[in-house]
Amino acid sequence: MWLAWLIGIVTALSAYYIIAARRKFEYWQKKGVPGPRPWPLVGVFVQTMKMGQGFYDLWAIKKFGRMFGYFDGSQPVIAVSDPDMLRSIMVKDFPQFINRRDVDINGPLLEQAVSVLHGQKWKDVRSTLVPTFTSGRLKQMNGLINECCDNLVSNLEKKADADEEFECQSLFRSVTMDVIASTFFGTKIDSQNDSKNEFTKNAVEAFDFSSFNPVLIIFFLFPWAMPLAKKLGLQIISKKNLDFFVDNTKEIIRMRSESKVVRKDFIQLMLRSMNAPDKNEKKPVETTTEVQDADDSQGSDIISHNLSVGSGQRNPVSLLITNLLSISGSLRQSFSFLAGFETSATALTFLTYCLAVEQTIQDKLRQSIEEVMQDLEEPTFESIAQMHYLDACVNEALRMDSKSPKEPSSASRFYAIQRDEEFWPNPDVYDPERFSYENKQNIKPYTFNTFGQGPRNCIGMRFAYYEIKMVMVHILRNFRILPSAKTEIPLQLKDTGFMAPKNGAWVKLQRL
Ligand code: HEM
Repeated sequence: MWLAWLIGIVTALSAYYIIAARRKFEYWQKKGVPGPRPWPLVGVFVQTMKMGQGFYDLWAIKKFGRMFGYFDGSQPVIAVSDPDMLRSIMVKDFPQFINRRDVDINGPLLEQAVSVLHGQKWKDVRSTLVPTFTSGRLKQMNGLINECCDNLVSNLEKKADADEEFECQSLFRSVTMDVIASTFFGTKIDSQNDSKNEFTKNAVEAFDFSSFNPVLIIFFLFPWAMPLAKKLGLQIISKKNLDFFVDNTKEIIRMRSESKVVRKDFIQLMLRSMNAPDKNEKKPVETTTEVQDADDSQGSDIISHNLSVGSGQRNPVSLLITNLLSISGSLRQSFSFLAGFETSATALTFLTYCLAVEQTIQDKLRQSIEEVMQDLEEPTFESIAQMHYLDACVNEALRMDSKSPKEPSSASRFYAIQRDEEFWPNPDVYDPERFSYENKQNIKPYTFNTFGQGPRNCIGMRFAYYEIKMVMVHILRNFRILPSAKTEIPLQLKDTGFMAPKNGAWVKLQRL
């Protein structure tokens, strides 16, 4: 008897899911939008997991065109990789696309982070944070970044002397982690030499979305179970990891407040605002002149010649002073900055790999860097801004490694468009000349979107360019990057939301 019941239930459920899948397919069909036929229950989840989102897009675009409809689990999504439509989504009709998809799995602390906020709340927080990334703020961070790069150079000297080949991605993860910890969390760590330190361990665990994450599975496949999952305290980043950063930030703020130590980092900026007498009359509290209120919002964008349009990153520094600044406020925001360690590390990995394989480009780049550096011992903000060929090399590496942000009902496909032969002839060839002063003018707008475009683009873009360039200048001034026995040509890629080397990017170094 029970067997009959079981068979009945399984049959009924299967029938339900098959009918639901057909309805989903019809949803896009009725709207005249082409797209893949979804599987019952999972949509195209299995295919995108298997192939990776970027490769899946390349396949789907060939089959259905630059706009296709599909289902992410139970959610209808339009994938767009047409430059004119992207312009509408990211800039022209931005008010209708202001919010990212409401994933609602962030937990109480992170649901207020700038990357997930909606509407007016997002606008308020974003305009508050924008001044953190002005040229003046970045200049102040120069010493902290140089310090991490010097540590990198002395570690690399050991590898060069031992003729040791090494994997770039894990090395650069620790470098960018050290930089973010120092500039945003006010914490000096040395994950290059001590990969087991608590800060690195918690950050890596927090942002490891590649492994089996039960919350993501529930969200995509059984969205109706989310309220229960939330009641049970499930969230995408575990409470244990978050608590570490809460305690760490609280402790630093307490120590800073008590000792009056001044450091040129994000926490100091927050502290300054928190300590100001009231909302309308906020002033720096330091008596030292060490941290200067360098509002250069009128200054030229000297970090990069990126093709970003309307980034909205020129608000006056006074906007920084709002009521959001509390301990948990600064933590929430600096935590969303922490995510930048992985993307910057990936960009550095691609760049290093490409330079190892393309020795002529590497020579030209080193020479162009030396022409700017001359007698300078360490790169400064101003010298980095004059390194135009470096800018082109970084942009070309970024073109080849890209992720796509998810919008509420449409997903902009950056990887696909940046590898589209119509816009980028020989898309798999690393050719920085595409971004030379002369050629840049010919790039079709909205075909290079590594940092997104418009008001919701990457808020950390200028910081990322600065950090990547600083690290590369330090490396190229001290070493020649060489391919090693394990260097794959061409590089095999895996797609975990953004592209990464499948088997690692291996190189070795020679001291200059
Ligand atoms: C090479 C490095 C990086 C790449 C390729 C990258 C790329 C992106 C992209 C594509 C977006 C979504 C834009 C959109 O929706 O149109 C984004 C958003 C964001 N990025 Fe980055 N990013 C990088 C580094 C960083 C760094 C270093 C930080 C922090 C210091 C950062 C902080 C953020 C934040 C907070 C957002 C959300 C902004 C908002 O919703 O208003 N990113 N990034």
